Amino acid sequence: MLFAFTAASLAIGVAAVAAQGGGNASFVDPTTQGGSFFLMATDGLGEPLNVVISGLSSPEVLTDTGFLNYARAVGFTTECFSLTLGTLFTANLGDGNGPQNQTMELRESFGNAMFGACIEMFLGGNHLRMFRQDGPQANTSALFLATSAEEGLFQNHTISADGYDVGRNIFANMAAGMTQFNGTSYNTTVQNLTGVLPVGSQGVNHGIAIDGNAFLLTVTTV
Ligand SMILES: *[C@@H]1O[C@H](CO)[C@@H](O)[C@H](O)[C@H]1NC(C)=O
Ligand SMILES: *[C@@H]1O[C@H](CO)[C@@H](O)[C@H](O)[C@H]1NC(C)=O
Ligand SMILES: *[C@@H]1O[C@H](CO)[C@@H](O)[C@H](O)[C@H]1NC(C)=O
Ligand SMILES: *[C@@H]1O[C@H](CO)[C@@H](O)[C@H](O)[C@H]1NC(C)=O
Ligand SMILES: *[C@@H]1O[C@H](CO)[C@@H](O)[C@H](O)[C@H]1NC(C)=O
Ligand SMILES: *[C@@H]1O[C@H](CO)[C@@H](O)[C@H](O)[C@H]1NC(C)=O
Ligand SMILES: *[C@@H]1O[C@H](CO)[C@@H](O)[C@H](O)[C@H]1NC(C)=O
Repeated sequence: MLFAFTAASLAIGVAAVAAQGGGNASFVDPTTQGGSFFLMATDGLGEPLNVVISGLSSPEVLTDTGFLNYARAVGFTTECFSLTLGTLFTANLGDGNGPQNQTMELRESFGNAMFGACIEMFLGGNHLRMFRQDGPQANTSALFLATSAEEGLFQNHTISADGYDVGRNIFANMAAGMTQFNGTSYNTTVQNLTGVLPVGSQGVNHGIAIDGNAFLLTVTTV
């Protein structure tokens, strides 16, 4: 599926409009309110929150169960059985809640909702952690995703070179346009969030360099 970019690249400031109450702002840049566009891994290093699901998306997409269904439409499933190697990471989205644990962790399903995540663990694939911006200072309901492309267990389950940018591109590519799962159809538009993160590898987990960009996805149920 091709990328469905909208005409204009978003400036960082565009998102920092009225954030009260939820539902009326795409998201608030966490760095403007004491937060970070990186999650904090247990080793103290960061992983980029490189995909944002806009708070202006259809409200049902922004709930836990709604996002899970959307992620399945995109091609992800839940963690597979006891093979989960993931550790809880935290993020501070500048919404007044301070650092919070991830809400959800998903791995790419490879088209098999039950066993796909297991297959991914061995072959390597795409991976994401989800955080919701819903604190009193930025109650946008936007979902911040840390996406990455991983090597398989045979490579000790590490993130591949360029794994953050690649994971982001794979996710946006799979999500763009029309997708559907279990009777719900989604129309996703993708916008660039250029330069919201620093370029390079300083402070980034696994020493993997990033290009500094993220994507903003607006998801509408149709
Ligand atoms: C968005 O970023 C991609 C590369 O990540 C670039 O190819 C594309 O031209 C950008 N689109 C806009 C509208 O800036
Ligand atoms: C969102 O915007 C609409 C229209 O401007 C307004 O009626 C509504 O009260 C706003 N909702 C919140 C939660 O601010
Ligand atoms: C994250 O979850 C762990 C395990 O449940 C818990 O000990 C920790 O306090 C949580 N951290 C935050 C910031 O909520
Ligand atoms: C955020 O807004 C929702 C309604 O959109 C509301 O239920 C919730 O209590 C608000 N949370 C905070 C922390 O203000
Ligand atoms: C995996 O980890 C083991 C033990 O730490 C190490 O000996 C091996 O070289 C690693 N393999 C790869 C492909 O990194
Ligand atoms: C599909 O939707 C039905 C009804 O909404 C629900 O009961 C069922 O659990 C869903 N199936 C999956 C795989 O999510
Ligand atoms: C999906 O959204 C785009 C952008 O808003 C719109 O141009 C297109 O017609 C929509 N497609 C469907 C099938 O609703």
